[in-house]
Amino acid sequence: MKQSEGTAKISVKDLNLFYGEKQALFDVSLDIEEKKVTALIGPSGCGKSTFLRTLNRMNDLIDGVKISGDIVIDKEDIYKSADVIKLRTKVGMVFQKPNLFPMSIYDNVAYGPRAQGIKNKKELNKIVEESLRGAAIWDEVKDRLKSSALGLSGGQQQRVCIARAIAMKPDVILMDEPTSALDPISTLKVEELIAQLKKAYTIVIVTHNMQQAARVSDKTAFFLNGEVIEYDVTNSVFSNPKDQRTEDYVTGRFG
Ligand SMILES: Nc1ncnc2c1ncn2[C@@H]1O[C@H](COP(=O)(O)OP(=O)(O)O)[C@@H](O)[C@H]1O
Ligand SMILES: [Mg+2]
Repeated sequence: MKQSEGTAKISVKDLNLFYGEKQALFDVSLDIEEKKVTALIGPSGCGKSTFLRTLNRMNDLIDGVKISGDIVIDKEDIYKSADVIKLRTKVGMVFQKPNLFPMSIYDNVAYGPRAQGIKNKKELNKIVEESLRGAAIWDEVKDRLKSSALGLSGGQQQRVCIARAIAMKPDVILMDEPTSALDPISTLKVEELIAQLKKAYTIVIVTHNMQQAARVSDKTAFFLNGEVIEYDVTNSVFSNPKDQRTEDYVTGRFG
């Protein structure tokens, strides 16, 4: 398997994951480059979400999960260091469906910083504005910051979710099929946003939409039955796949 040429932000080696007796990831090794977009593609049930969740130890919350192997982020083995709260601050996550809290737009974005102990109103205002700007949603919500976030459209809510992640000042943003619940125009907005975000963040995105992977990502990993079959620059994976199974998948022959 070809390894990356750029700077590795995240280095995964021989990762195996079991849900009880059932193995979901098999010897996954790959380097994720800093300030690039890495797409994870593959048929449903092949382990994309499971892999994504290992990167900020979200699987720790699931009973009976066993993990072996190493995941190093910025030279720190995240399964050996104990500070999971710090890890989840550094590695933020955006889910498939917008999951805003039933509170105002402002309070949603300020939630994490407040939980970290930031109380100063001016400072919070600044974080909220910068985060909403960073998520390309400020102009749409600046006059209704005190209104319920649940009154926004799905696409707007997803961008507020991204703002909420940004407010924690992460290095890495994990996105699990972030546009699968959105209409085409909102999807396009989120894709444009991802292109902006990679200037500042390392992004790992799961998508079952191959056009989306081709549009937004620099590198693509193809998963099948819990294994990484091929990992390369996105253009190669789509235009010149090395493995027959990758070719079959990207040409739509299965999945
Ligand atoms: N919480 C869980 N408990 C047990 N098995 C799970 C759990 N989550 C996922 N799995 C299983 O692990 C495999 C990979 O699932 P998942 O990572 O969700 O795949 P994908 O995101 O590619 O659709 C599937 O067989 C799925 O049924
Ligand atoms: Mg999934």
